[in-house]
Amino acid sequence: MPKQILITGGAGFIGAHLANELITHGYTVRALDSLVPQVHGPDHKRPAYLNPEVELTVGDVRDPAAVARALEGADAVVHLVALVGVGQSMYQIAEYTSVNNFGSAVLWQALSDHPVECVLVASSMSIYGEGLYRDTDGRVCNAPDRTLEQLKMGDWEPRDPRGRPLTPAERAAMPDADTVWLVELAELTALLHEVGLTVTWQEECSTQHRAMALALGRAFQDDAAAIGRRIGARAPAELIAAHELWSEWLGAGRVRKFAMVAEQR
Ligand SMILES: NC(=O)c1ccc[n+]([C@@H]2O[C@H](COP(=O)([O-])OP(=O)(O)OC[C@H]3O[C@@H](n4cnc5c(N)ncnc54)[C@H](O)[C@@H]3O)[C@@H](O)[C@H]2O)c1
Repeated sequence: MPKQILITGGAGFIGAHLANELITHGYTVRALDSLVPQVHGPDHKRPAYLNPEVELTVGDVRDPAAVARALEGADAVVHLVALVGVGQSMYQIAEYTSVNNFGSAVLWQALSDHPVECVLVASSMSIYGEGLYRDTDGRVCNAPDRTLEQLKMGDWEPRDPRGRPLTPAERAAMPDADTVWLVELAELTALLHEVGLTVTWQEECSTQHRAMALALGRAFQDDAAAIGRRIGARAPAELIAAHELWSEWLGAGRVRKFAMVAEQR
C-alpha cells in the first residue's frame, strides 16, 4: 500500500510543488490547509494549481480536531503551515506567533497520540542571508558570520575576515526593510554539493513568486497607515519599494526563483 504523507500548508507554494513530487514517486498526499485569503484570495477555493490527486482537508493547524482528522492514516508529516510575511510579522505579532508557534505545538501534541515514521519541518526563509557585499579590494563577497565579540559589543557592521569594513553591493539597491541574497544557481548547486547534497529536482517559479510579491506589495499599500503607526513611518514605503523592486527584478529575469529538492546520496 502506498505511504500516505500529510503536508500541512500543502496548498501553499512549497507544499503544492512537494505534493507533485511525492505523487510522482507513488505516495498518496493529504494537505491540511486553511486557505488563508492573502495566499489564496477571498473565495476560500481550492487552488487550481493543486494536483487533483491531493486530498485537501480545509482546516486550521491550531484546531486539534482538524489536525487529528488530518493525521488519520498518515505515515509521515511535512509541516509547512506558516504565515510567511517578514514585514507583516513585525506588526501582526500575535497572529504570526499563534500560527507559527502555537500551530506547531498543536501538531506536536497530536503527533504524541498519533506517532508517524518521520516529521519534516521547513527551514526559515532567513537562510537567504543578508545580501552580497563588496570588500575594500572591490570584490563581491558574502559577509562572514559576526564574531561573538562583535555581537557582545553590539557591533553589527559586517567585516571581512581581516576586520575590514564591507559595503553593501547587490543589496544597496534594496531598501532597508527587506533582504535578499543573490547567488548564481551554479554556485548554489556547487555549495550544496560541497556539503554532500545533490539537486535531484528543480523548477523555476519566478512567475508565481512575482505574483506573490505583487500581492504583498498591494497588502502593504492597503495597510500602510496602520503599519506606519505600529512600526514606524518609514516602514510602509520601504516595504512597498522592496516588493516593487523584487517584482521588477523577477519580471525582467534579473533574479529568478527556483523550487528545488536536494538529497543526500
Ligand atoms: N517560499 C520560500 O522560498 C521558502 C524558503 C524557505 C523556507 N520556506 C518555508 O516553507 C514554509 C512554506 O512556505 P511557502 O512559501 O509555501 O508559504 P505559503 O504561504 O505559500 O504556504 C503556507 C500555507 O499555509 C497555509 N496556512 C497559513 N496559516 C494556516 C493555518 N493557521 N492553518 C492551516 N493552514 C495555514 C496557507 O493557506 C498556505 O497555503 C514556511 O515555513 C516558509 O518559511 C519557504
